[in-house]
Amino acid sequence: MTLILNRSDVISVLEMKDCMDVVEKAFAELANGSAVLPLRTGIKPPDGISLYMPAYLKEMGALACKVVTVYKDNPKKFNMPTTIGKVLLQDINTGDVVCIMDGGYLTAVRTGAASGVATKYLARKDKGQVVGIFGAGVQAKMQLWAVATARDIKSAIVFDISDEAMNKFVSEMSAKLGIQINKAASADEVLSADIICTASSSADPLFDGKKLKEGTHINGIGSHAPAMRELDTETIKRSLFIGDSREACFSEAGDILIPIKEGAIKEDHFYAELGEIITGKKDGRKDDKAITLFKSNGLAIQDVATAKVVYERALAKGIGVNVEI
Ligand SMILES: NC(=O)c1ccc[n+]([C@@H]2O[C@H](COP(=O)([O-])OP(=O)(O)OC[C@H]3O[C@@H](n4cnc5c(N)ncnc54)[C@H](O)[C@@H]3O)[C@@H](O)[C@H]2O)c1
Repeated sequence: MTLILNRSDVISVLEMKDCMDVVEKAFAELANGSAVLPLRTGIKPPDGISLYMPAYLKEMGALACKVVTVYKDNPKKFNMPTTIGKVLLQDINTGDVVCIMDGGYLTAVRTGAASGVATKYLARKDKGQVVGIFGAGVQAKMQLWAVATARDIKSAIVFDISDEAMNKFVSEMSAKLGIQINKAASADEVLSADIICTASSSADPLFDGKKLKEGTHINGIGSHAPAMRELDTETIKRSLFIGDSREACFSEAGDILIPIKEGAIKEDHFYAELGEIITGKKDGRKDDKAITLFKSNGLAIQDVATAKVVYERALAKGIGVNVEI
């Protein structure tokens, strides 16, 4: 039998703290060599792009593949979302697909979780910090949830080019987290924050890196194409650069590829993978003045680890529909 979990099933069992715990283990497996993580494979049918993201985590006993499509005309042509994802989770003993689950919410939570883990290891430890968020969309909300799970947060400040998106963000997230959230009138205002997440759909830098204050930690999760970047060359130069994966950053992240192309930095500016920090193979922040940066492109190991925990929680709660395929 195959268990089918829809979006509300996934929402009902997936908590940020649980997701951060398994995502942290997944990054540790990547650093320790017990994860199998091929680069995502893309196919371009006429109207969009289809991505296949498989991974295997040996220690966790998790094997899955996420199928994600981005079809820009879906909303107007079919009244369907632009981005659609489903995860196929397999039994590692038989290889059979034991669960098919919605991947939309799961992707946002696992993306938040990676930033939460990076924040746990790299941000300053003082209490009452302010979180700054660029973008007020789907991912941005999960970024704030994750950072608030990792650190003692006093308040947040959000900036989006859409006032409507900011208003929704403020009402939804202040109710969820019970913290004060302010709208920023300009990008510069967000730079007063201690921890900054960039989670926008922008293809160009969101702020001037010269204005970043010492001691900031940044989670950069938005752009993941060689010609796109949310962070400017100055931000990259001033930061201790930690990526989710060396391979993914050097094939997808304009944030580091563009400054290298400009000659502003060399490849060795890439300091460590997040898993190397988690496992203690490399040191993290050196002092309270350092600017640390986690660049996330999104890895299948995050999906696989999260899908496993969702499946286990769903089985324990008796959620979902079993079908014979
Ligand atoms: N790293 C990962 O694992 C990962 C996972 C999922 C999505 N993403 C990426 O995250 C980004 C955001 O995705 P989403 O699902 O939240 O999209 P979304 O459309 O829900 O939200 C994006 C928001 O960014 C805002 N924005 C655009 N330009 C801006 C600017 N210059 N300043 C401030 N705000 C700006 C938009 O108005 C919008 O509200 C996308 O680029 C997506 O590809 C990354």
